[in-house]
Formats: sequence, C-alpha cells, structure tokens
Amino acid sequence: MPFTETVAEPLVSLRDLHLSFGTNPVLKGIDLDVHRGQAVSIIGPSGSGKSTILRCITGLLQPQRGTIRVDSTEVHTLSQESERIELRKRVGFVFQQYNLFPHLSVLENLVIAPRKVLGHSRIEAEKQARALLAKVRMEHKADAYPGQLSGGQQQRVAIARALAMRPELILFDEVTSALDPETVGEVLTVIRELTEEGMTCVLVTHEMRFAEEISDIVYFTENGVIVEHGSATQIFRHPTSERTQTFLRHALGDSGRRPAVANDPYLLTNLGRYSLSV
Ligand SMILES: Nc1ncnc2c1ncn2[C@@H]1O[C@H](COP(=O)(O)OP(=O)(O)OP(=O)(O)O)[C@@H](O)[C@H]1O
Ligand SMILES: [Mg+2]
Repeated sequence: MPFTETVAEPLVSLRDLHLSFGTNPVLKGIDLDVHRGQAVSIIGPSGSGKSTILRCITGLLQPQRGTIRVDSTEVHTLSQESERIELRKRVGFVFQQYNLFPHLSVLENLVIAPRKVLGHSRIEAEKQARALLAKVRMEHKADAYPGQLSGGQQQRVAIARALAMRPELILFDEVTSALDPETVGEVLTVIRELTEEGMTCVLVTHEMRFAEEISDIVYFTENGVIVEHGSATQIFRHPTSERTQTFLRHALGDSGRRPAVANDPYLLTNLGRYSLSV
C-alpha cells in the first residue's frame, strides 16, 4: 500500500452497540463497519441479534449505549421521527415478508414513493420503475397485483421497490427464508447482480453458500456479540472460533431454511413504522 493512500471512511459504522429489551440484553457491544460497494453478511444462530442490528442501522431501534453512523448521520442521536424518515429514504430495507402494497399494481408499488417522497414526476418515476422491473426480470408483470405473483416474484418486486428510492445502501433480512425452494435462486440472482454492480449491501441470511460466494466481509454473531469477522474465505474456510466452526458445521449440513413468522407482532409493528417512510 503506498504510504500516501488514505483509507476511506466506512459508509456504516457501529461502535460498542448495547441494546436490551427490558432486562434481556440482546446486543452486547457490537462493532461493525460497512464500506461503500461492499457486500457484508451477518450470519449466526436464531436469536443472536442479527435483525436487531439491521433495525438499529435504520433507526427503527434505539440502542441504550454505543454509536451508529450512516455516512454523516449520527443515527443514535436522532430524536425526531422526521429525522429517521430522512434516514430511511437513504437506506433500503427488504424483509422476509415482501410487504408490497396489495391494492397497488406492481408498477404503482414502485412509483408511489419516488413520487410522494422524492417528488419525482409521474413520467420520470414510471420510466425508472420500468427499468427496475426489467432489472429484476419482472417487466412482464408491471400491471399485475402482488396477490397474483409467486413469493419469489413478489420479493423481486420488493427489491426493485427499495431500489426505486436510489438508496445509498440496502439491507436484506432473510429475504429468501419464506420462499419455495424453486424461487430462492431467482431472488439470490438479483441480489448477486446488485452486489456485482457495486451496490452496498448488508445481508442477514441463512443461505450460507450464497453468503460465502457474494460477501466481501462476513460477521458471525452469537448471543449478542460478534464472535469473529473477516473475509468470506477466512470465515467459511478457516474460522478461528470453535463457536463459528460448530455453527458452520450445522448450518452447512442443512440449508437452514425455516418457515415465515407471519404472526410476529413485533415485526409487523415495525414494518408499519417502516412503511410510513415510503
Ligand atoms: N421487540 C422485542 N421485544 C423483546 N425481545 C425482542 C424483541 N425483538 C427481538 N427480541 C429478542 O432479541 C433477541 C434477538 O432477536 P433478533 O430478531 O435480532 O435475532 P436474529 O438473530 O435476527 O434471529 P433469527 O435468525 O431467528 O431471525 C431474541 O432473543 C429476541 O427474542
Ligand atoms: Mg432475524
């Protein structure tokens, strides 16, 4: 490395994040960096705090201690909902449940936020929406309603809808966990292409082979701490922690897929709050 080279600031930086729900400590000192153009995966057992980390990045949850920075925004200091809405315009978030607006066509699902939130003209918003639908290979369903689509198709539309806000980074929380096995591949292909194009992505996934293939950096969480992190090769091929080794042995033994948590009231509450921003 030349002596004069400056190391770019991470786009996302979490430091010493602590978060409890009541008396239950869920995050116990999380440090995590995401640089522009990186694909960063967070893997780890169920309940280890992965989704909580993503919710902190978007300001959906406030930690009791520690700092969260997204570009120049100090997320942990935001006190107004309006400030958090500004943040969420810049951070795309795609969940396990596609959460499309059921009463709007596919095209309108992509047009509404750029028009209402970003103030784009209808012509401009539609042009962009059609381009994004082509990108996720859903242009032939522009006039269909979400209920007429397969899970994988809805998830691809949900990704296109997040992209329509031209986010600086996009967070994926187990976006394939609720899908039929046949449709998982088509969604992963879309995510892979985004990472290849240099979109900054943070992925929580149980698809270990996929995480290994596309990630620049992998974080392994357990019980609210980062046990280790490193390049995909380092974590998947040469994990140093015995905990990581055991987890990967089990996770790679089966695909780790699990059913949707359709009745998770907490998730739905937060989806509602998140939807407010789009
Ligand atoms: N709103 C909440 N109230 C109380 N406890 C919560 C709440 N949300 C999450 N938790 C708890 O926090 C812990 C971490 O949850 P989190 O959803 O971040 O785990 P995860 O790693 O994403 O798990 P999974 O792989 O199952 O999605 C769990 O013990 C969970 O029960
Ligand atoms: Mg989760």
